This record gives sequence, structure tokens and C-alpha cells, in this order.
Amino acid sequence: MKYLIIATLSALLLFAEESFITEGEYGQMLYENPRGIGCVHCHGKRGEGALIARYKDNGEQKELRAPGIREIPLAKLKSSLLKRHRVMPTYFLTDKEIRAIFYYLHMGGEE
Ligand code: HEC
Repeated sequence: MKYLIIATLSALLLFAEESFITEGEYGQMLYENPRGIGCVHCHGKRGEGALIARYKDNGEQKELRAPGIREIPLAKLKSSLLKRHRVMPTYFLTDKEIRAIFYYLHMGGEE
């Protein structure tokens, strides 16, 4: 009986934890782990853009950068995630997930 109560309580706690994450936390989770390589690895901690690699091309020093995406409008974020890129992978995110990432990128300051 005691174990049953403990099991029920922990199930309730788990449930509570899942339903009480904010839209921003959900967006951050997806930004860091979007079923594929995290956006965070290329676009920086919060979409500010980052240097991916430096390389030489015909003796010329070049840089590969992921652009800043914090100011990007929702429509552009969506279309960009649906199209094929040269460097960036293709993702299979739902509208709701893209909106959460958008929300996270546009939230001011730290949460
Ligand atoms: C492997 C590195 C890499 C990862 C991972 C990655 N990106 Fe990108 N992304 C790029 C590069 C490089 C570009 C610019 C060149 C291009 O379009 O391929 C870009 C372009 C974009 C653009 C278009 C920006 C503009 O101004 O046109 C958006 C929006 C974007 N990424 C969002 C995301 C999101 C959201 C994720 C995660 C779901 C993500 N990216 C993951 C490298 C990456």
C-alpha cells in the first residue's frame, strides 16, 4: 500500500512538472534539442549567431557563420525551417514547436 501511494505521488509530480513548463522553457528545450542537431550548436546560445568554422579556400582565409536569428519574423523562421539548406540540416518541426522556438528567441533577457 505504501508503495502504491509513493508511486501515485511520483506520477503526479512528474505530470505536474510536465504541464507547468512555460512556453519559453519549451522553446528553449526545442532550440537545444529539436530531434536533430540543436540550433544552439550553430546559432549560439540564444540565436545571436555564431562562428561555425574557419577554413582556407585557395589560400584565402574564410569563415562559415550561422546568422543571428533573434529578430527573424515567424513567417521567415517557418519557411527557413522547411527549406533545404547547404549547411543547416532539415528539421521536421510542427507549427506549435516552431512557435515555441520563436517565442524563446524573442523573449527579452534571461528567464
Ligand atoms: C549545422 C549548423 C546549423 C544548425 C544545427 C542549425 N542551423 Fe540554422 N543556419 C545555419 C547556417 C549556416 C545558415 C545560413 C546559411 C543557410 O541558409 O544555410 C542558417 C540559416 C538559418 C535561418 C535563416 C536565417 C536568415 O536570416 O535567412 C534560420 C531562421 C535558421 N537557420 C534557424 C535555425 C533553427 C531554428 C535551428 C534549429 C531547429 C537551426 N537553424 C539549426 C546553420 C545551422
